Amino acid sequence: MKKLRTFLCLVASLIALYAWSSPQVVKSPNGKLMLSFDTDATGQMHYQVYIGKKSFILPSDLGFTEKQGFNLSHGFQVQTAQRSHTDEMWSQPWGENKHIRNNYNQLRVSLTNQQGIHLALTFRLYNDGLGFRYEYDVPQADSLLLTDELTSFNLTEDGISWSIPANYDTYELLYRTMPISKLDNANTPMTFKSAGVYASIHEAALTDFPEMTLKNIGNRHLKAELAPWPDGIKARFKGGAFKSPWRSIQIANNAVGLINSSLILNLNDPCALPSTDWTKPMKYVGVWWGMHLGVESWVINDRHGATTENAKRYIDFAAQNNIEGVMFEGWNEGWENWGGTQHFDYTKPYADFDIKEIARYAHEKGIAIIGHHETGGNIFNYDRQLDKAYKWYADLGIHCVKTGYAGGIPNGFNHHGQFTVRHYRKVVLTAAAYHTTLDVHEPIKDTGIRRTYPNMMTREGARGMEWNAWSEGNPPEHQVMLPFTRLLAGPMDYTPGIFDILYKRAKNSPDRKKWNMKDSKDCRVNTTLAKQIAEWVILYSPLQMAADMIENYEGHPAFQFFRDFDADCDWSKALAGEPGEFVAIVRKAKNKYFLGAATNSEARSISIKLDFLEKGKKYKAIIYADAPDADWIKNPEAYTITEKEVNSKGRLEINMARGGGQAITFLPL
Ligand code: NOJ
Ligand code: CA
Repeated sequence: MKKLRTFLCLVASLIALYAWSSPQVVKSPNGKLMLSFDTDATGQMHYQVYIGKKSFILPSDLGFTEKQGFNLSHGFQVQTAQRSHTDEMWSQPWGENKHIRNNYNQLRVSLTNQQGIHLALTFRLYNDGLGFRYEYDVPQADSLLLTDELTSFNLTEDGISWSIPANYDTYELLYRTMPISKLDNANTPMTFKSAGVYASIHEAALTDFPEMTLKNIGNRHLKAELAPWPDGIKARFKGGAFKSPWRSIQIANNAVGLINSSLILNLNDPCALPSTDWTKPMKYVGVWWGMHLGVESWVINDRHGATTENAKRYIDFAAQNNIEGVMFEGWNEGWENWGGTQHFDYTKPYADFDIKEIARYAHEKGIAIIGHHETGGNIFNYDRQLDKAYKWYADLGIHCVKTGYAGGIPNGFNHHGQFTVRHYRKVVLTAAAYHTTLDVHEPIKDTGIRRTYPNMMTREGARGMEWNAWSEGNPPEHQVMLPFTRLLAGPMDYTPGIFDILYKRAKNSPDRKKWNMKDSKDCRVNTTLAKQIAEWVILYSPLQMAADMIENYEGHPAFQFFRDFDADCDWSKALAGEPGEFVAIVRKAKNKYFLGAATNSEARSISIKLDFLEKGKKYKAIIYADAPDADWIKNPEAYTITEKEVNSKGRLEINMARGGGQAITFLPL
């Protein structure tokens, strides 16, 4: 027995020695991507990535540092290395694509260091990128206090990048196009072009961890930075075990390949909810834009937006226009303290908002109400009322809620740290318990958890339409940047579709009052009308809003697009585009197709093959285009609607004005 044990120990140490002296390698199923893992003489762990024979990522560090002396980065030796291959199809209740292929090669390396700390590192190589995650077990620890993450991405070549700055409280920032080597820091998804490919660094399955941002630690060497707790600790765990989110890199030959990748969803766990038939995509309108334009108010007064009368008007409009949902903001007590103590009450409607009657009326008309919980950032106040608030809405038949975190989190916490990530997840689980779907504003970034919790349907997490109401606005390149950056993470509630682009109606209204610090005199949407329509397709959100006040849609011929539109698509494909320049995306919903194309401030023509249409079928294409004299600055509302019979063998030339776009509905004949 003793001899056998000695023999086994010898074999084990030989394997360990072999592993230490030779890198562990894993390739993507098509053999094009290769990752190699290694430990050096000090037991520091590294990985590097090749595309074909070309280096893409130079040796880059792995590991963490810990406050109490647990060594989570050095002295590690490989014990075992297991390889496996997975190729499966899975389906989701809703999404850009309902059926997804999950095809990867996995390398799972188990390591131990002198302190007896165990680490399992899992690497997954896909044809469209890679992901890796850490699982630590420190048997002797009662708690762990992480002080830093050492993961780095040491890019072999410089290149151009598209990102927003790192910030632990907001993603509502403008995108920068700049050389990777010139970045100080960036939030993820951080998209770039380098070594002949397009790529995007992000994370998947962010659970009980702070968000990861990137810091440039030398030329084009990016390092993970974690959002801290108020005391500077990055992540804390009871006991000695923790699992990190996946660190992910999407890789594609062309820019639209990133949009067509399902890597982030594939890296997430399968659905954890026992049923999902209650969480469904919807088109919606809402009492919303009037407040941002300053002609209505959230707080109860003579300009109050969420009144019973107005609510019924919106419900009637939805029912008459094939729209499934209506959202109401400013319906509950607490708006008088917005920006102050942020003490909202989630079960006390304002006196002029008869919620029981509104819920009854909506039900009678077959319209879903989307409730609203603004927290102002006071997650403690929200947490105290959480269960009661979701039950109260559910009892009224309200099963979809928009939440908001517009304001600082109290006690020194930030929006993106581990503590707040825990709060956001608790809200998802509480909502699920009441079969309630969520649309989160000022959220934690999307990392694909919608696969596991499909009721976490959409979120904001970038500069949305609201910025156009009261600031210099989003520039024309913004909406053709988002699909290649923010939307790689998941759906976004951008709230597109403003038809009164210059706010003529609001600016002529005697009710208009300035409510935001920024001067709103010259505000407008930096767009053409056709581009607003195209954004309903381009900016994917399963809860898709026609965001303008309904007065601006009533009788407008171009609103037919939204009437025909279906937010519940089955299949999507990005056809053409470059970050910040232009994009064209098509989605199929049942037997209809919807195409959206948009450009930045340059006029552009693109030729699109219609080979995505079903072969052998004829379609009526209804084309919502920029008029020949349209221009986002001088003539933004000039549009044309034309019809054409097409089939899968044809092509369409899409002409877009400066700051313009085009939207097409394809109806089977
Ligand atoms: C910010 C959100 O993004 C916006 O949609 C909402 O209207 C305001 N907060 C007020 O809740
Ligand atoms: Ca916002």
